Amino acid sequence: MKILGIETSCDETGIAIYDSEQGIIADALFSQIKLHAEYGGVVPELASRDHVRKTIPLIKKVMAESGCTPADIDAIAYTKGPGLIGALFVGVGIGRSLAYAWDVPAIGVHHMEGHLLAPMLEDDKPEFPFVALLVSGGHSMLVDVQSLGHYTILGESIDDAAGEAFDKTAKIMGLGYPGGPALAKLAEKGRPGIYKLPRPMTDRPGLDFSFSGLKTAVANLYRDSDKTEQDLADIAYAFQEAVVDTIYIKCRRALEQTGYQSLVVAGGVSANISLREKLTSLLESKGGKAYYPRLQFCTDNGAMIAYAGYCRYQQIISQQGQFEEPAVRAQPRWPI
Ligand code: KG4
Ligand code: ZN
Repeated sequence: MKILGIETSCDETGIAIYDSEQGIIADALFSQIKLHAEYGGVVPELASRDHVRKTIPLIKKVMAESGCTPADIDAIAYTKGPGLIGALFVGVGIGRSLAYAWDVPAIGVHHMEGHLLAPMLEDDKPEFPFVALLVSGGHSMLVDVQSLGHYTILGESIDDAAGEAFDKTAKIMGLGYPGGPALAKLAEKGRPGIYKLPRPMTDRPGLDFSFSGLKTAVANLYRDSDKTEQDLADIAYAFQEAVVDTIYIKCRRALEQTGYQSLVVAGGVSANISLREKLTSLLESKGGKAYYPRLQFCTDNGAMIAYAGYCRYQQIISQQGQFEEPAVRAQPRWPI
């Protein structure tokens, strides 16, 4: 079967088709980064308008690339939430309307479940149960994933999400928006041991995160620094090392607490190489394994929504459940 996936929750229009035999057979993405860069953050109204412009052309593109006609599509999955309400409504409205026109079921997908399942699009897939570390621009959480739809949040950020901390810190250091990847790149040239930043909330039990203090610590370092290229790289290194170490400590605790041997890492920050190296070695040392999406599916994309929609479709069918009634509903706040 084939599922068309639509992602419009924030500043990326992502459209893809998942085929249950062949995997992702078409995938298209339009990033609005340039549109929002001059404002230093996502402007919700501009995001919605751009999704309106891009969604249908991208759907036409993936249909053409895959050689699919509407008759080949068995269901439509769209991101129902969480996210920006206006942006969500574009995908919800178009997804629901197409499903009505093509007479197929429509499935509203939880954006974070999309991220969580993205590593299952790889050949070497994780099996349930596992611990999921979801680190994006909007969320940072550790989840006990027992099976599809059975999720227990073990811990989450009490303030900034990990990606948000990367972006805000990058902004302080004049690296533009969204500066997470630029900050990570700069950190590659940094030297260890020059600056030391705290590992927030690791000195007490629990699995919650707090990243906003690191941003303030960097603001102070930056203010007093010489601002040479090497100096900035050293600050970036210290920041990334603090975030990665903090996440490492919490992941180790979550694995000990659950007794699981698999860790799934997803969301935009899972593209961070230093984080990947550190978590891969943690799991190797425990005789387990860390799983990641391929780099292009770490950040927002339509493929993860098409795949999550497929999983939910199968579950509804196997449990003889009902598809949602055809109402155009979005859920900007939605716990996983
Ligand atoms: O999952 P995503 O595309 O959007 C949300 O659902 O939020 O994540 C985007 C976030 C941004 O904050 C971005 O700066 C961060 O992921 N990010 C990175 C890297 N690549 C993307 N953060 C650190 N290192 C990276 N290499
Ligand atoms: Zn996301």
